[in-house]
Amino acid sequence: MSVLGVLGAGAMGSGIAQVAATYGWEVQLVDINEEAIVTARTKLQKILNRQVEKGRMSDIEVKGIMGRIYFGSSMQAFEKADLIIEAIVENMEVKKKVFRSIETIVSTDCILATNTSSLSVTQIAGSLDNPWRMVGIHFFNPAPLMKLVEIIPAVQSSPDVVSRAQKIVDSWGKYTVIARDTPGFIVNKVARPFYSESFKIYEEGIADYATIDWVMKEMGGFRMGPFALTDYIGHDVNYKVTETVWKAFYYDGRYKPSFVQKALVDAGYLGRKSGKGFYDYAENADNPTPNTDQKSGKKILHRVLAMLINEAADTIYMGICNEESVETAMTKGVNYPKGLISWGRELGFDYIVELLDGLYDRYHEERYRVSPWLRDRAI
Ligand code: NAI
Repeated sequence: MSVLGVLGAGAMGSGIAQVAATYGWEVQLVDINEEAIVTARTKLQKILNRQVEKGRMSDIEVKGIMGRIYFGSSMQAFEKADLIIEAIVENMEVKKKVFRSIETIVSTDCILATNTSSLSVTQIAGSLDNPWRMVGIHFFNPAPLMKLVEIIPAVQSSPDVVSRAQKIVDSWGKYTVIARDTPGFIVNKVARPFYSESFKIYEEGIADYATIDWVMKEMGGFRMGPFALTDYIGHDVNYKVTETVWKAFYYDGRYKPSFVQKALVDAGYLGRKSGKGFYDYAENADNPTPNTDQKSGKKILHRVLAMLINEAADTIYMGICNEESVETAMTKGVNYPKGLISWGRELGFDYIVELLDGLYDRYHEERYRVSPWLRDRAI
């Protein structure tokens, strides 16, 4: 039986353990915090019991999964592992330190992977004696449900390690895409304009948030509008991702955070979890009624879409991933109704470029610069 070591039994680590154990792997799930281990075991048992109640799994399957996961607090349990996935705090120094210890425990052909969302895999690998065996394996939350996994080779990774890691994750029923080690990888980079351009349209008073949400959901086919979605994610979390990507791209104006979201964070209006974000979640609260005018709705939708399509195009242009991967990433990672490049083709790349050039003429802001990939394809 293949053995997976997971470090960190929080939301992500437990989810990853569940996925691997479901596919027959033995999992050593390790956390420094004894309480986290107890919580992880209880929560996982509860999740699996619910699957039985819903008739999706049998008792025997659940016993099998739980029986393949060993919960512990010592990394010595990683001795026989074929692959380690680290899912601890998002802190470079702590991650470097734990990988240096892990390296002294595991065998030389054990693959070392990090689930980091925002740190450089290459920098983490830089702390290892054998950096070639390091790779990013980025799951989405919740790991058992989200179908996409980004595989991020470090600059030092050996091609064999990358292809082995990809094959393993594929065998766990996931869609994998290879992403170059750049800030936000694919999904967290390409999705930025969904929020930022919508916030800008709102900030400028072009439409209120309920209207923009209505447009994106009802006219665009997105599962949730950007305001309802960030209320759901939490503005502290979403703002932090935006700020991290912006800083990591050397303050490129394209990723600039928005004042309106910063103000919510400062006020403690973090969204659903604090009862108020853009929307008020109190009973009988007075939230705006969307304006459902199709003509102004189309203008808003196309402006946000143009920005998303441009970001997807530039991600290909910069060699972060290929066209097929960016399409898979956005449809499987964040459930977009269509791949952004196919959407662009459908609307016409020339039309998208014209829209962006118009916005650039109006604002003279960096965010509206057209990707050469898109311009080359606009006739
Ligand atoms: P979490 O806070 O739920 O869990 C982290 C766990 O790591 C805690 O149980 C903590 O006790 C443990 N831990 C901390 N330092 C440790 C150490 N030195 N040795 C062993 N265990 C240690 O965090 P979460 O949300 O599960 O995230 C973990 C990682 O996954 C982070 O790198 C995060 O960026 C990444 N990630 C998170 C996603 C999310 O939506 N939450 C999505 C994708 C990646």
